[in-house]
Amino acid sequence: MKPVQIAVIGTGSISSFHLASYKNNPNANIYAVCDLNEERAKQAAEKYGAAKVYTDYRELLADPVIEAVSICTWNNTHAEISIAALEAGKHVLVEKPLCRTVEEALRVQEAVKASGKLLQVGFVRRYDSNAQLLRAMADRGEFGEIYFAKASTIRRLGNPGGWFADIERSGGGPLIDIGVHVIDLCWYMMGRPKPVSVSANTYRKLGNRSNVRHLSFYQAADYDANKNTVEDMANALIRFENGASLLVDVSFTLHAKSNEGAVKLYGEKGGFEIDPETVIVTEQNDTILNVYPQTDNKGFHFDGAFQNEINHFLDCVSNGTTPLSPVEDGVEIMKILIAIYESAAKGAEVRL
Ligand SMILES: NC(=O)c1ccc[n+]([C@@H]2O[C@H](COP(=O)([O-])OP(=O)(O)OC[C@H]3O[C@@H](n4cnc5c(N)ncnc54)[C@H](O)[C@@H]3O)[C@@H](O)[C@H]2O)c1
Repeated sequence: MKPVQIAVIGTGSISSFHLASYKNNPNANIYAVCDLNEERAKQAAEKYGAAKVYTDYRELLADPVIEAVSICTWNNTHAEISIAALEAGKHVLVEKPLCRTVEEALRVQEAVKASGKLLQVGFVRRYDSNAQLLRAMADRGEFGEIYFAKASTIRRLGNPGGWFADIERSGGGPLIDIGVHVIDLCWYMMGRPKPVSVSANTYRKLGNRSNVRHLSFYQAADYDANKNTVEDMANALIRFENGASLLVDVSFTLHAKSNEGAVKLYGEKGGFEIDPETVIVTEQNDTILNVYPQTDNKGFHFDGAFQNEINHFLDCVSNGTTPLSPVEDGVEIMKILIAIYESAAKGAEVRL
């Protein structure tokens, strides 16, 4: 099989996971990279052996050698670059979130349909092997109907600054950046029920807390603490058509005693936790059992999930199959995220 000719657009932090995973897959050739920051693009090209370096994604997309692209840029460019790539006849793997608004998401969906090319949304949590194990068990009905889920991603200090904190470029704060992962993960595990209403709150109380000393935290490639126009924290209750509900809380900063990641789902026949570690809760012989599956990793394995995501994208490109995280799911998740922001702004429940 001839390797798929790949280009990676945006060579900041997350691109290294895409590039390393493509590099590991013999079915891919990293042909080109692109970044507004030429030096950054050149460094990535050198490290991963890309033949071409671009600073303008339009020029990159005009290159007929390229068959598929990973889009690892700021959120405000996801829709624009995805649409241009599809129109140029390239397959697309776009980082989460799909984009910033429902309107943008629908335009991307239209472009997928019109182009006949595939678009995979980078909902990397779905591709973790523990998540796949649990999804397979849910498919077999082992948990019965999943009617309640709780998802928490609390950073006590972790506003990455730069574009992440600039609502124009990010579309929002912790909700759209890290909340998107756990909302999608729960929704996927619940069998993708139709959302019908959202009641939510967002807060801007603490700022980015760039004053805090003695505790380091993740910062964007172009860290800048001067601008912060996003929420510090968000919480939401999402109701689904089948009566199921999802409770979420996420923060970039909060007076919490530690960071916290919890993803828990509850069904009629059993429950399970994904974060902080995989555990299945069930009942046998009138006895409650907490079962710890013996798998390679107790919790989410970042590198492995990225490798699976990239392998899956390459398989879909080669075989013409629909990705596990198609554009339709990106659109649905955007509807939920935007409804959360709308509900918080109105101070009232929003119907979808
Ligand atoms: N899946 C995950 O777990 C995960 C984790 C982190 C980030 N992300 C997503 O990946 C994307 C990038 O995040 P990051 O942390 O790598 O940010 P980053 O700031 O480290 O890198 C982004 C890069 O994109 C470049 N860029 C921006 N607009 C561009 C354009 N029009 N053309 C070419 N280059 C452009 C910037 O110069 C920068 O080098 C975001 O959408 C983010 O939500 C996903």
